[in-house]
Amino acid sequence: MRTIEWRNGTVITIDQTKLPHETVFLEMKTSNEVAEAIKTMKIRGAPLLGAAAAYALALTAYYSEAKEREELIKELERTAEILRGTRPTAVNLFWAIDRILSKAIAFSGNAKDLVAFIVEEAQKIADEDAEANRLIGNYGAELICGGDVILTHCNAGALATVEYGTALGVIKAAWDHGKKIRVIATETRPKLQGARLTTYELKRVGIPVTLITDNMVGYAMRQQLVDKVIVGADRIVQDAVINKIGTFTIAVLAKEHKIPFYVAAPKSTFDLIHNSAEVTIEERNPEEITHIGSQRIVTEDVEVLNPAFDITPLKYVSAIICESGILYKKEFVKFKA
Ligand code: MRU
Repeated sequence: MRTIEWRNGTVITIDQTKLPHETVFLEMKTSNEVAEAIKTMKIRGAPLLGAAAAYALALTAYYSEAKEREELIKELERTAEILRGTRPTAVNLFWAIDRILSKAIAFSGNAKDLVAFIVEEAQKIADEDAEANRLIGNYGAELICGGDVILTHCNAGALATVEYGTALGVIKAAWDHGKKIRVIATETRPKLQGARLTTYELKRVGIPVTLITDNMVGYAMRQQLVDKVIVGADRIVQDAVINKIGTFTIAVLAKEHKIPFYVAAPKSTFDLIHNSAEVTIEERNPEEITHIGSQRIVTEDVEVLNPAFDITPLKYVSAIICESGILYKKEFVKFKA
């Protein structure tokens, strides 16, 4: 099964907050349920957010009672507003909403035909993501040598996408090409996507993985335990890659130790009309830091900073792998053109 699927007016996905201990499927029939699942990170990962937003719009269309095309477009715009307010950083969410809305506005048929068109467009977004990940995997696998130990951060696997994964897609493709590699996964405080999701995904496909805490990256690199780093991205802007908090630290350490630092992301993650100063970095609930599970670990009066993402300037990035191929540093210059 894909991470997210449309089945006759129901969006089905896995609740990622319950993994790895429980496999609970969410069956959603309203766009509000999808928006809530995004906010609470039951659905997460940039490409998956794009597909989920597209399917949320499809749900609005599918259950709409609008008789006129204009009325349906108004309903879609209201859903789009709610979705835009869920999480601010991953651009895929905004990309999918804008793509569906602009196509809906340009559509010349009646309301009934527009419903079918929107459902089809959401399906296309999901299919394209699955296809992009396969291509990213195959291109990226060329960068991997047999015996490599690859460090990855957060979860950029099948769970973060419609299918297969971006950074983990590269790792899986290299493994499938017969390269005997190993992975080091960082736990990824505070939501533990690396510990909970990345190790789970890799174990399921039999790729050896070692879990470390985020503050062990410097040690591991200095001990020459890491050959390459591959991460995903939430937004690639003119001057930087924006990804899970902790990515920048890993990139700086990789440069210091002359370890290649690769980013794997579909073009739906590219936002080349903006620079990093223009992007909103999501600030999440302090309780994610002050508590472990339901247990408070700090006194009541402690101030907390909890940005969910950080900014890695492109000078730290060795190459970006997308569905069109591998972009090296000289191609990044064009981002600003
Ligand atoms: O807060 P999350 O779990 O949605 O953050 C996810 C990441 O930062 C991933 O690295 C990124 O979305 C790429 S997923 C292919």
